[in-house]
Amino acid sequence: MRDAPGRGLSDDLLDWYDRHARVMPWRVGPAERSAGERPDPYRVWLSEVMLQQTTVAAVRGYFRRFTARWPDVAALAAAEDAEVMAEWAGLGYYARARNLLKCARAVVDDHGGRFPESRAALLTLPGIGPYTASAIAAIAFDAPETVVDGNVERVMARLHDVDTPLPKAKAELTELAEALTPTQRPGDYAQAVMDLGATICTPKSPACGICPWRDPCRARTAGRATELPRKAPRTAKPTRLGIAYVARREDGAWLLERRPDKGLLGGMLGWPCSDWSEAPQEAPPLAADWREIGAEARHTFTHFHLRLAILVADVPEGVLPDRGHFVPEAEFSPAALPTVMRKVFDLARETLGHD
Ligand code: ADE
Repeated sequence: MRDAPGRGLSDDLLDWYDRHARVMPWRVGPAERSAGERPDPYRVWLSEVMLQQTTVAAVRGYFRRFTARWPDVAALAAAEDAEVMAEWAGLGYYARARNLLKCARAVVDDHGGRFPESRAALLTLPGIGPYTASAIAAIAFDAPETVVDGNVERVMARLHDVDTPLPKAKAELTELAEALTPTQRPGDYAQAVMDLGATICTPKSPACGICPWRDPCRARTAGRATELPRKAPRTAKPTRLGIAYVARREDGAWLLERRPDKGLLGGMLGWPCSDWSEAPQEAPPLAADWREIGAEARHTFTHFHLRLAILVADVPEGVLPDRGHFVPEAEFSPAALPTVMRKVFDLARETLGHD
């Protein structure tokens, strides 16, 4: 079911978007678009992968650095894995970075360096799921696909006053969003709904007074916009414990270990650690005079909280670690570490007295 011809909800939203579209480094705004400019699918894909689970504010800098260094999909496909992982450090959800590289290489090897245009073909690429496939098809190729992220779910739940809690309401909200997607300018429309959710139909204090969907919004009329969408209560996250080992060699080199590709922080460089569990086993990466520093690093992952005790050691030149490898001081970049490992470093370096 689509909007009937003539003015509909989607036209009101597109008018609003024409005036209020957010400026983003990957976006071709409505004015340039109507002047014939087309978005670069590489930039659309890269931004959408970065934006999964991450805010626009956090993504901007990463996007600029990635596109400056790897301006097109062929450049990214030819990059060293470790360089890409280091550039991604801090964005989290590191499987996205590994899949990013796999996807770039698949586009180059299997698609002649051009992103396929249909949602179905995009879905066959590594790391491109239903959300990203729809977003690329709509935004880069103006296909009439419906893009549903958390913002869009909130907007639909309010517009249609859907009382069912998430995640049960997902299918219903998706259907409602599909029914509104216009065949004209679907790419701009997809971005408009997301912008509306991010700037006006916000979770806690929506600016209903200036909303282009103020009048048709059923939750606003019923006075319960801020109560929607309802959410099933979350189960509390468990806490896991662990030990991180920070060894510094006399010549200033740091002992680091690349984590296995599969699993948490997969493929990222970090400090050798014990297991992360209720009762971690000691597992120092080399024999040394380890001392525990007074502070622990805390970090929250999707499914658990982590508290890492930190052991540090100064070690002589010539020692051979059982795990990991020494990275010379000149080659060590704390910015290449995932956030939890960066927290460990910031705490440990104070104790080791180096900067
Ligand atoms: N969030 C994720 N992708 C977006 C986009 N293309 N526009 C606005 N917000 C977004």
